[in-house]
Amino acid sequence: MSRFPVVPAAYLVLTRPGASGPEVLLQLRGATGYMEGRWACAAAGHVEEGEPADRAVCREAAEELGLTIEPSQVSLAAVLQRGCVLGGPIEQRIDLFFTATDVTGDPVITEPDKALDLRWWPLATLPDNTVPHERQALEHLRDHGPGAGAHEGRHTAYAPTLLTRGFDQTLTLVAAVGRNGVIGDGSSMPWHLPEDLAFFKRTTMGGVLVMGRGTWDSIGRALPGRRTIVVTRDRDWSAPGAEVAHSLPEALDIAGDTEVFIAGGGQVYEQTIDVASRLVITHVEQEPEGAVTFPSIDPRRWREESRDVQDGFAWVEYLRRTTTPT
Ligand SMILES: NC(=O)c1ccc[n+]([C@@H]2O[C@H](COP(=O)([O-])OP(=O)(O)OC[C@H]3O[C@@H](n4cnc5c(N)ncnc54)[C@H](OP(=O)(O)O)[C@@H]3O)[C@@H](O)[C@H]2O)c1
Repeated sequence: MSRFPVVPAAYLVLTRPGASGPEVLLQLRGATGYMEGRWACAAAGHVEEGEPADRAVCREAAEELGLTIEPSQVSLAAVLQRGCVLGGPIEQRIDLFFTATDVTGDPVITEPDKALDLRWWPLATLPDNTVPHERQALEHLRDHGPGAGAHEGRHTAYAPTLLTRGFDQTLTLVAAVGRNGVIGDGSSMPWHLPEDLAFFKRTTMGGVLVMGRGTWDSIGRALPGRRTIVVTRDRDWSAPGAEVAHSLPEALDIAGDTEVFIAGGGQVYEQTIDVASRLVITHVEQEPEGAVTFPSIDPRRWREESRDVQDGFAWVEYLRRTTTPT
């Protein structure tokens, strides 16, 4: 039987009473290569081989905050199991969130390149740019906490709960494709089809778009009424209205458990078609020139669900076959 590797990580949730309810200590992530520029639990890291998770969280507290905490002071409060349709060992995770009591000493930033800031935030109003899966756990603790006693220094345990993320996410690729597979020349679309732009809007309105930086540049702005997550390897890239991810798994983690619309371009379609469950394709009756193409739609993997023929193009929906015909 084949088994898949899971990466365990331990998170420290430090809370204190605040003027308007409990506060949680968060750090602003710096150059870590993951979720940069987002607020995260005060200390966290991977559990090392041969290391119990409660010791791991104490080690992280010492390394990242200069705090001395013993395993007897920490309690498991929530477990978050994360999956990702893209697979890969690093994407299948078990996140263990620990609270701590009777912590003495003042937390400080000890790794200034990795943590840019350290601040107490009201648990009730976490910053918008909190790491999404950590926000999920913190909001759960806020809403299902053990009550005020925990914030008065008493060792009140949470009932550890299993949370999940990523298992109810699906990917839908939306594209307009010429007869020759071409979708663009690298900077723009090869046609102007207002009815199809309206169709794209109807299809994706209210949802989450994931697109490559090339496609963002070709559109030039955030599309209204939708979240737009842009993938780029450029750590300095940002644009108004765009949520930035530096890898596709990071983009999908940010997107959450929903139908995610993959909006192109060629590079991003290529990397996601094998794990998508639906294709919404405008087959355009043209054969334009252009270097950017859509991956081939293999009829052994995809079955046509519906076809709506228009003047000069057709809207076709494909669903992934659950079994491959022989
Ligand atoms: N016909 C249609 O339906 C349709 C739809 C969308 C786009 N298009 C067309 O397609 C063309 C753009 O497609 P494209 O293939 O050139 O570009 P793209 O896929 O939109 O974007 C490529 C860029 O995305 C980033 N990227 C890709 N994979 C990544 C990963 N795994 N991790 C992090 N970043 C990643 C990189 O950005 P950095 O270089 O910044 O690192 C890469 O250069 C344009 O002509 C556009 O008009 C057509």
